[in-house]
Amino acid sequence: MKRFLPYGRQDVGGEEMRRVRDVLESDWLTQGPKVPEFEAALAASCGAAHAVAVANGTMALYLAFRAAGLGPGDRFIVPPTTFVATANAGVLCGAEPVFVDIDPETLTLDPARVEAALLADPRIRAILPVHLGGRVADLPALKQLADRHGAVIIEDACHAIGTRWCDDGGAWHRVGDGSHGVMTCFSFHPVKSMTTGEGGAVTTNDPALAEKLAGLRTHGITREPSRLERQDGPWYYEMHDLGINARLTDMQAAMGLVQLQKLERLCKRRLELVQRYDRAFARVPRLRVQARPQPDGSCWHLMIVRTPERDALYRALAAQQIGSQVHYYPVHLQPYYRHRFGTGPGLCPAAETYYNEALSLPLFPTMNDADQSRVIKAVRRFFADRPEVAMTAGAAIGDGCDDGDMFHGLDGLDGHD
Ligand SMILES: Cc1ncc(COP(=O)(O)O)c(C=O)c1O
Repeated sequence: MKRFLPYGRQDVGGEEMRRVRDVLESDWLTQGPKVPEFEAALAASCGAAHAVAVANGTMALYLAFRAAGLGPGDRFIVPPTTFVATANAGVLCGAEPVFVDIDPETLTLDPARVEAALLADPRIRAILPVHLGGRVADLPALKQLADRHGAVIIEDACHAIGTRWCDDGGAWHRVGDGSHGVMTCFSFHPVKSMTTGEGGAVTTNDPALAEKLAGLRTHGITREPSRLERQDGPWYYEMHDLGINARLTDMQAAMGLVQLQKLERLCKRRLELVQRYDRAFARVPRLRVQARPQPDGSCWHLMIVRTPERDALYRALAAQQIGSQVHYYPVHLQPYYRHRFGTGPGLCPAAETYYNEALSLPLFPTMNDADQSRVIKAVRRFFADRPEVAMTAGAAIGDGCDDGDMFHGLDGLDGHD
């Protein structure tokens, strides 16, 4: 029986365990000195002035919406190809989602459709680009539109910690550096490129937003003497805002500090794996991959492929103990959104077509070349065993390959391909 290969897995080692143990032996378990240490390291790693660590990516998004002041009567643009949390976070604040379709190649918000939505609806106050799979959305175009229409960009970078990207002028940016989004939200869930178990953060260059986020994270409570409306004993605090407990623990922050030190290496390995997949699949008919930026500095969280035979491919891989996953069923088709906001099929055709074809293959830094070869062989063999499908419909994604290509190179994958 072959060993099960999951689609994602954390890379946690002895150093994380030692640092967490140190915290367990200290006086602080919940938010203590490790949290600001982690925040400083995270801000430096992203190139932002501030980072506010929170309990998870959902809280990062929710508090970012709150800090931006979105509430009833406001609307925000969100792509349907995302985890439900992106839209939910805004709805929990009382704002209304405007689902805008994705670009079918990059799988991120389509700026032309964003512009149309902004022109049609003056109540839109925020744009939530999702850097799907680690690939940055078209931030320069979105920022131009946001500035023109008085909206702010809040980046959902839950997939994209560690991503760097190059703008048209040749300047490199780090996701979370605040150059385009006023706030950038991260998740440190175990399948992500770095983890704290559960965990998240918001980065920003705006000190007022950072202060607001930090207050909301802990019930909107302050003990800062200069801000108190009355003076009382040392026990006294005041609540100035309606917040929540969204704190990260010191144990998680200690783990995050180690993961941050490893992040560049983890991202490099992810990119290597993605590039090898891309080479191996370049001539497989009826299979295509997410468009890569050039040059590519992405920290790839997901290896997304698309094929009209997605369901059969999923089953074929599962039969060989290879895990895969679908990211994502379009949020506007979720029953809650259909019933509450009247959304439905046909609203975002690119996201709907994409969903029917999408599959995320195993991608994680501790995956070795042999693990990857197993996946590549299984995928290639799947298409080689179905020549009739490939020959009748292969032209649909036409990459100019002849039919012989799909039989080529099924073996010998353990070396470089
Ligand atoms: C795109 C996206 N946004 C938000 C979230 C929410 O993050 P968390 O699970 O840490 O709450 C996730 C996590 O899966 C995600 O993938």
